[in-house]
Amino acid sequence: MATKNAVVTGANQGIGLEIVRLIAQQPGTRAVLTARSEERGRAALAKLQSELPPAAAERVSFAQLDITSQDSIASFRQWAEKELRQVDVLINNAGFAYKGDTWGVEEAQTTINTNYVGTASVCEALEGLVPDGGRIINVCSSAGKLGIIKDAGLRARWERASSRAELDELTHEFVEAVRSNNYAQKGWPRSMYGVSKLAECQYSRILAQELRPRRIAVAAVCPGWCNTAMASFRGPRPASEGADTPVWLAFQPDSDWERWTGKFWKDRKEEPF
Ligand SMILES: NC(=O)c1ccc[n+]([C@@H]2O[C@H](COP(=O)([O-])OP(=O)(O)OC[C@H]3O[C@@H](n4cnc5c(N)ncnc54)[C@H](OP(=O)(O)O)[C@@H]3O)[C@@H](O)[C@H]2O)c1
Repeated sequence: MATKNAVVTGANQGIGLEIVRLIAQQPGTRAVLTARSEERGRAALAKLQSELPPAAAERVSFAQLDITSQDSIASFRQWAEKELRQVDVLINNAGFAYKGDTWGVEEAQTTINTNYVGTASVCEALEGLVPDGGRIINVCSSAGKLGIIKDAGLRARWERASSRAELDELTHEFVEAVRSNNYAQKGWPRSMYGVSKLAECQYSRILAQELRPRRIAVAAVCPGWCNTAMASFRGPRPASEGADTPVWLAFQPDSDWERWTGKFWKDRKEEPF
């Protein structure tokens, strides 16, 4: 059986690191731990390899990937094409949130650029290396479900969006509403993270539709509230629990892909978006 290559973004800590750990324990896989910082990524790889049994440790390697840098994405693609030839499983886990009630135009743009634009850019750059029948799993969040948009008209626009251009327009409107300080009147929630994750969730749904002809399954997953840096180590779940559903989906039998593509998953169960 051919080795399955899995690429995981933002994997130097937290849920991403646990995703790599789980994948490495499956024979017949090769897991690429990627991180924006070469130093943090290599340190995480060394620690992980020292904790894994030798056969599993051999299945993991490191590559630099900053999902907000087009240069980094392009270099990673070149590396992956040469070293892996194909990416059977792509797990977009990298994510960012400001702490506390930080709020501002630049902050809103940064959050959207990482969670939505960064994830979409990686998908678009690597799509050509994902073989027919491959898998793309986006680690989204329940904080980014449609219900966060209280205004019915605005919510309907998010629900109907069927292209990346429409999502770009919606996220742009949000940033402009933050700038004008009329976001509440316009029906937006006071959550930069929520809107960025909503865009990532809706992008997953649109991408699933686009990649259907190639039987590439795409899913949005919420890992639950986990005990990671993003959650200031206050989440009740260990990161390993948050890693379970993304990996479970990524290795579902090929025959089942239509059951789960284009859907939102949490704790191995489908949920409404
Ligand atoms: N923890 C929760 O309760 C929770 C709940 C729902 C959803 N999620 C989602 O789960 C995913 C993982 O989060 P986590 O809880 O494991 O948080 P975490 O421990 O803070 O890890 C986030 C990872 O993303 C990386 N990252 C941030 N910006 C990046 C960029 N531009 N390029 C590449 N990597 C980047 C971080 O790298 P650095 O170490 O260099 O910063 C880190 O490795 C995120 O998408 C998050 O939104 C988490």
